Amino acid sequence: MALVNAKEMLTKAKEGHYAVGQFNINNLEWTKAVLLTAQELNSPVILGVSEGAGKYMCGYKTVVGMVNGMLEELNITVPVALHLDHGSYEGAKACIAAGFSSVMFDGSHYPIAENVEKTTELVQICADKNLSIEAEVGSIGGEEDGVVGMGECADPNECKMIADLGVTMLAAGIGNIHGVYPENWAGLSFDTLDAVQKLTGSMPLVLHGGTGIPADMIKKAITLGVSKINVNTECQLSFAAATRKYIEEGKDQKGKGFDPRKLLAPGFEAIKATVKEKMELFGSVNKA
Ligand code: 13P
Repeated sequence: MALVNAKEMLTKAKEGHYAVGQFNINNLEWTKAVLLTAQELNSPVILGVSEGAGKYMCGYKTVVGMVNGMLEELNITVPVALHLDHGSYEGAKACIAAGFSSVMFDGSHYPIAENVEKTTELVQICADKNLSIEAEVGSIGGEEDGVVGMGECADPNECKMIADLGVTMLAAGIGNIHGVYPENWAGLSFDTLDAVQKLTGSMPLVLHGGTGIPADMIKKAITLGVSKINVNTECQLSFAAATRKYIEEGKDQKGKGFDPRKLLAPGFEAIKATVKEKMELFGSVNKA
C-alpha cells in the first residue's frame, strides 16, 4: 500500500478511543522493524522523521525512497504515514516536495500570531496535496536534536485558535517532555488536556514524549482525546541495550558475529518488541 495521509487513521482512532503510535526512525533497521511489527499486528502506524534524523539518513528524498521501497518489497498492507517530526517552516516545505505524506510544523517557539500565519500557509499547501499536518502549541520539554524545550502547559484557547486553522492533528504541551522523565516529574496535566479537548472537539490530539509515561497515564490520556502518541527514545534505549549485550557477551568475536547483519539483529528484534508493547498499550492492534 502507498503512503497515506494520517487523517483517516487518526479520525478512526479518536472515535474508537485508541491511539496510533508514531515511531521515529533512524536507519534501515529501524524502519524495517517498525513496518514489520505494524504488519504483524495489523496496526496502522506513523513513521516519524526529525530533521536531524532526515539529515543523518542522507536527506528526505533518501528516506522517501527507502520507505516506499520497503512498503512494496515487504508487502506492507497496513496504513503507513511518513511524517516530519517537529519540522521547521523550511523543513516542512522540503518534506512536502520530497514525497512525505504528513508533516508537523512546530511553530510553538514563535509568538502565537506568527505560529498562526505560518501554520495557515502550510495548511493550505497540505490541503492542496492531500497531506496531513500537525501543529503544536506549548513547547514540549526536554532535548531533541539540540532543541531544548522547557515543557509547558498549552493555553487551551490558543489550541482552539490553531485547531480552527484546519490542521489534521494538534500537539498540546501538557507537562510532557522528550527523553527519559526525571525522578521529580510532576506527571501529565490532565486538567489541561481535558480543557484542550473540550475546546477542540473532534480534533485528534497528539502526545509527544511517549517514552516512559506510565501505562495508566497513557490510558487516561487516550480517554481524554489523545489519538497519536510519539515514541523515540524508548526504541533507542532498547536497541542500545540489546547491542551492548551482544558485544559484552563477545558474540561479535565468534565466527562471523562481526557481520552487521548479525551484529545489528538483536537491536532490530529489541525495537520490534518495544513497538509491539506500545501498540498493545495504545490499543491500535487489529485496527488497520
Ligand atoms: P520520546 O523520545 O520521549 O519518546 O519522544 C518522542 C517524540 O515526542 C517525538 O516527537
